[in-house]
Order: sequence, then C-alpha cells, then structure tokens
Amino acid sequence: MMNISKISDMLTTGWAGRELIYYKETDSTNVQGKNLVKDGIKHGAVVIAETQTAGRGRRGRTWISPLEDAVYMTLILRPNIALENASMLTLVAALAVVNAIEELQITNACKIKWPNDIVMGKKKVCGILTELTTANNQMESVLIGIGINVNAKEFSEAISQVATSLYCETGQLVNRELLIATVMNQFERYYELFLKTEDLSALAEGYNDKLIHRYQDVFIEEAESKRQVRAIGIDERGALIVELQNGDMESIIAGEVSVRGIYGYV
Ligand code: BTN
Repeated sequence: MMNISKISDMLTTGWAGRELIYYKETDSTNVQGKNLVKDGIKHGAVVIAETQTAGRGRRGRTWISPLEDAVYMTLILRPNIALENASMLTLVAALAVVNAIEELQITNACKIKWPNDIVMGKKKVCGILTELTTANNQMESVLIGIGINVNAKEFSEAISQVATSLYCETGQLVNRELLIATVMNQFERYYELFLKTEDLSALAEGYNDKLIHRYQDVFIEEAESKRQVRAIGIDERGALIVELQNGDMESIIAGEVSVRGIYGYV
C-alpha cells in the first residue's frame, strides 16, 4: 500500500497534489474525480487508487488495473482557459510524466507516442485519459487520468505485446509515492508555462525531443484511410505536423486519427 503522507512530503508545488484523495479500490479515478468536482473539490486535487475495477482507457477501452503494481491517478484542474485549449493539457501531462521518469533517473529511454502515450522500447508504459466536465455550458473541470505501469512483473497474454512496465524495462522497482510527487512537481511547472500563452509554444521543443516518431515514417489511420507520412513534430497547438509523400505539410489533430509505426503499435 502507498503511504499518502509521503507524497505530500515530497511535493514542491503550490497547488498540484496539495489535496490527495486515496482509495484502496475504486471503479475509476476519473469517475471519482468527476464526482468530486460536483462536490466542489478544488483545483489541483489528485485522486489515487491502488486498483481500479473499471479503469478507463481512450476510445472506450478498458485500462486493466491490477493491485499495487502501478500508478492510477487523476489530477483535477479547474482552469480558466478557453474550451478549445483544454485538450493540449494532455500533452503537458505526457511531458511531465516523461520528465519525472528522467528526473528520478529511472531511465532516459521513455518516449512520447503522439499525442499522449508513453512508450519504452516498442511497448506502452503509460496512458493518459483527459476528460472535461461542463456546467451551464461552460468548462467546469479538466480531469487528467494517468496510468503508469510501474512495478508489474508481467502482463496478461492479451496485452503483453503492447504493454510493459518500468520494472520490466529497467529491472528496478520504483517508489510510487516518489513518482507521483515528481509527476506533480513537473506538471505544475509546465502548466504555469502553458497558461502564459494558453498553448504549447514554450513546451513544443521539449516535447518534440521526446517524440518517438520524430522524422520517421508512420501510418496515419483515419476512419476509412491509411496513409504513410513522415512525422515532423508538434506545433504550438499540439497538432502533429506530417510531411506527405508529395512533400506537402499537413497538421493532424489528435482524437480523429491514430498514428502507427510502420511495423506495429510503435
Ligand atoms: C489510454 O487509453 O491510453 C489511457 C489510459 C488512462 C488510464 C488512467 S488510470 C487512472 C485514470 N483512471 C481511469 O479510469 N483511467 C485513467
């Protein structure tokens, strides 16, 4: 089990993670986050669970959430920003997680698979699910759900081809309290930079340094098409700039497409 007060002790933030809500078991920290928002919980609060019975992934998938091996957390934000800028926060979170892993010297080999998967080798170590709530037609909160595969020693056959953990890749067990605190410390710093311009202009370069497909060929899969393009990097709004085979540039908006490596998931 985690010792939640240890997380608080390691925070250097003004607001991120200053209120921690801890469950041994819950359905989904994102679902609980939404309930807490309706109850008036404040900006920066974080919901943490040791296991989730209905962990949620992107595109309606489930996020398998075994006990104690991982980090399942949701950061609750109440940003005073335009609705159309909120989705960029998911990229801010991805950068915070990668940099936290580096800062703790767990590994420098984590990369970001645009927009917000974190991969090591050719497998995923972290997924992020960002959800919004509205009240009276206005944005009320942004919930950033982060699932990091930390100390798991193996994965079920169904996902072992695409999922890995920090332990599987490095052979080192990671202190989850320290990892959560470090992610919060990094996130707050990046979030303040994001707020200055309400976009990623200050963060795009650092993000692109971590982009796994930078200058590589990838498949862009849309509803009915699959095109081979070259990934160049994100722009200041988090769109992926790609070079088409005829040399034209196009920006791809997250959410509508998936990016696949030429040989598989990465
Ligand atoms: C993805 O599909 O890659 C996103 C996975 C997000 C999983 C995390 S675990 C904590 C939070 N609670 C959830 O139910 N999902 C997110």
